[in-house]
Amino acid sequence: QTIHLADYTPFGWTVRDVHLTVKLSPRATRVVARIHFAPRGDAPAQDFFLHGEELTLLRAAIDGAEVTPEITPQGLTCPVPDGPFLWESEVEIAPADNTALEGLYMSNGMYCTQCEAEGFRKITYYPDRPDVMATFTVRIEGDEPVKLSNGNPADSGAGWAEWHDPWPKPAYLFALVAGDLRNHPGSFTTKSGKEVELNIWVRPGDEGKCAFGMEALKKSMTWDEEVYGREYDLDIFNVVAVDDFNMGAMENKGLNIFNSSCVLASPETSTDANFERIEAIIAHEYFHNWTGNRITCRDWFQLCLKEGLTVYRDSQFTSDMRSAEVKRISDVIALRARQFPEDQGPLAHPVRPESFQEINNFYTATVYEKGAEVIGMLKRLVGDEEYYKALDLYFERHDGDAATIEDWIRVFEDATGRDLSQFKRWYSQAGTPRLSVSEDFSEGTYTLTFRQTTPPTPGQPDKAPQVLPIAVGLLNPNGHEVVPTTVLEMTEAEQSFTFEGLSAKPVPSILRGFSAPVVLERDSAPEERAFLLAHDTDAFNRWESSRDLARDCLVAMVTEGAAPDTAWLDGLERVIRDDTLDPAFRALMMGGPTQSETAQVLHERGHVPDPDAIWDAHESLRQAMAERWQDLLPALAEEARVTEAYRPDAAQSGKRALGSAVLALQTRLDGGKAAEAQFASADNMTLQLSALACLVQAGRDEAALRAFHDQWQDDRLVMDKWFALQIAATTPDKAPERTAALTEHPAFDWTNPNRFRSVLGALAMHHTGFHAKDGRGYKLLADWLIKLDAKNPQTTARMCSAFQTWKRYDADRQALMKAQLERIAARPGLSPDTGEMVSRLLS
Ligand code: ARG
Ligand code: ZN
Repeated sequence: QTIHLADYTPFGWTVRDVHLTVKLSPRATRVVARIHFAPRGDAPAQDFFLHGEELTLLRAAIDGAEVTPEITPQGLTCPVPDGPFLWESEVEIAPADNTALEGLYMSNGMYCTQCEAEGFRKITYYPDRPDVMATFTVRIEGDEPVKLSNGNPADSGAGWAEWHDPWPKPAYLFALVAGDLRNHPGSFTTKSGKEVELNIWVRPGDEGKCAFGMEALKKSMTWDEEVYGREYDLDIFNVVAVDDFNMGAMENKGLNIFNSSCVLASPETSTDANFERIEAIIAHEYFHNWTGNRITCRDWFQLCLKEGLTVYRDSQFTSDMRSAEVKRISDVIALRARQFPEDQGPLAHPVRPESFQEINNFYTATVYEKGAEVIGMLKRLVGDEEYYKALDLYFERHDGDAATIEDWIRVFEDATGRDLSQFKRWYSQAGTPRLSVSEDFSEGTYTLTFRQTTPPTPGQPDKAPQVLPIAVGLLNPNGHEVVPTTVLEMTEAEQSFTFEGLSAKPVPSILRGFSAPVVLERDSAPEERAFLLAHDTDAFNRWESSRDLARDCLVAMVTEGAAPDTAWLDGLERVIRDDTLDPAFRALMMGGPTQSETAQVLHERGHVPDPDAIWDAHESLRQAMAERWQDLLPALAEEARVTEAYRPDAAQSGKRALGSAVLALQTRLDGGKAAEAQFASADNMTLQLSALACLVQAGRDEAALRAFHDQWQDDRLVMDKWFALQIAATTPDKAPERTAALTEHPAFDWTNPNRFRSVLGALAMHHTGFHAKDGRGYKLLADWLIKLDAKNPQTTARMCSAFQTWKRYDADRQALMKAQLERIAARPGLSPDTGEMVSRLLS
């Protein structure tokens, strides 16, 4: 059943308050609800309908009189009085049997919830839609020593605890946790002097992995006060780590629930990248308290209203805590890796979709990451000062509202006086715009002419021009910047911009900071790119010019059997040698495109990517780099050595990133000697794991994998890395077999989403291994998706996107992938979640 944005109608009643009593029991939890409804005059007439799924209704009453509602698999209807009334119901549910991990479920003996987007209807009958907001009082009964819900603790006694949340909220922000948990406590004083109790709750044994998350939380609270003027609004803020979780984390009011992989951290068990991600996710969920909770979404089509903005805010936070340049480059790498393929394939959809069957399938890179890019463009267009003025107005005008993208746009129009009607197309048009550029110079006037087109996407054959903020700087032939960064505002399909008074034809640095999420098509001479690599003042474009040269080089290697481009490698070497530059930046420069990125570039340039040829090209390029830089590598390794005690900060992480880039090349020369030494002496997970990756890559991994297993077999999160790495770092011929073998391993608990992803997700991400010519990679993944779908539709549906690029490949591979998709589609009893994904993929 497809739901359309255009069909929105408000619910016919308001909810004054919700009172829940939850009597916990693994297979017979009772939920008693008392809810005050009142009709609202401004809503169209409708039957009284409450959502409810997989509930056993034991009793229902209106104003104390028993009623017998009409029940369907989606919910119930019931005649109700004309005026306000009290609804009471009691249902039974079985959290221990809930393997979908949506609603109330159990993870390692602990009760927890995930209600976004539509999980609350699996807990009790309710108008489960984000525009119905109410205050909640929750009484939890059970023997579990810790019992938590939203808001502030109200009262408790032997075997019960009561919570009251004074802030009206939609049901998707409801949460409940109960179990034998330990807390890592902290506190925070807001800028207006309010004392807030902070806790991170974990399973016994994980207490030592909370300190970093706690610090990240305090930094987030301070940052949101300083940058956005937003203060926390309850007496307590709880964070809980859960092992079985479909997503990263959830911003439930006052009770954030995290996938344990996104909060637990220690130097011995977490990599630098883990630490950075944890800091960002803690911030993201905390920032939702204002952008998501205090101001929520009218309906799920508006998801980007909270997610795009909150991703944008967490990226600003990371930029401030660490290196803004490195963060921007990393974000663009991720956008191109995750969002561009989505936007250019059968799953393409606008940042604000206009229809869906299953909303859980729209928690996508487009809604989140492109949604954040749209905010970044808006900020660049209106300027920092106007941006914060608009945000102040947004919080003032919409606090307590369930808002829309129209509200958001209007706030910016009212605050800045701009007409944003064309800008709004970013929310409604899917697809990645292509931007081409030509230049002209005569008599001191330099002209840049841009052309934009957006290819058709499913359901959108024709696209109108979008507003593109194009950040440009000009350098003179000596390498000096003659025009600093200027934002050109492109609104037409074709548009020229002139720069006067130049003494010589300049070299343009276009799309600085990746100021718009487009594919820039520019056939500039390699010399010009090399010039920018050496001289650009914009770090992003310096990196980008090298990346462009790398892309050209790899495309030539794959399609013409060319040799690696030595001119580019010379230019790159100068940057890598420059020890005045941040090691993290140099590590990014050394990294080069991934194989999927090369496939993407080949596709964008009209070639059919051949995964085996891509593998070979990447291998020979890496080998050429290693040989070329063999005298440089030891000095870089020395520079990358960290002598102080481990800290997961930007400075040390940058050094280790450089060190691991160097080690990967060294391994090609010494067969794994240096990696073995590093593996033996490593006292933190970053060094241990980067060494292990090199050993796997060198095929010298047996002893190391065994040692690593023996050392970490009791640590779930480290074992996820052990599973993933053996697949990720191996050669393509071995990837499917290793994956299959690991699914037989006793520690492969496929019902745990993290473990499932660490094995099958690693296969899907191994470009050449997944695309094995005979289709065994595809078949293996499809077998497991079919198996998982019966237990956990959400995670299954999400992982179907591994097939989203299927139409790019050769006819044989296309046929093999299509056959697997059809096999999944034909399964009797397939979940609606997976059904929708597969049908979109096949359309
Ligand atoms: N709102 C959560 C977050 O970003 C994600 C929850 C997604 N849940 C889901 N079932 N799709 O931060
Ligand atoms: Zn979010």
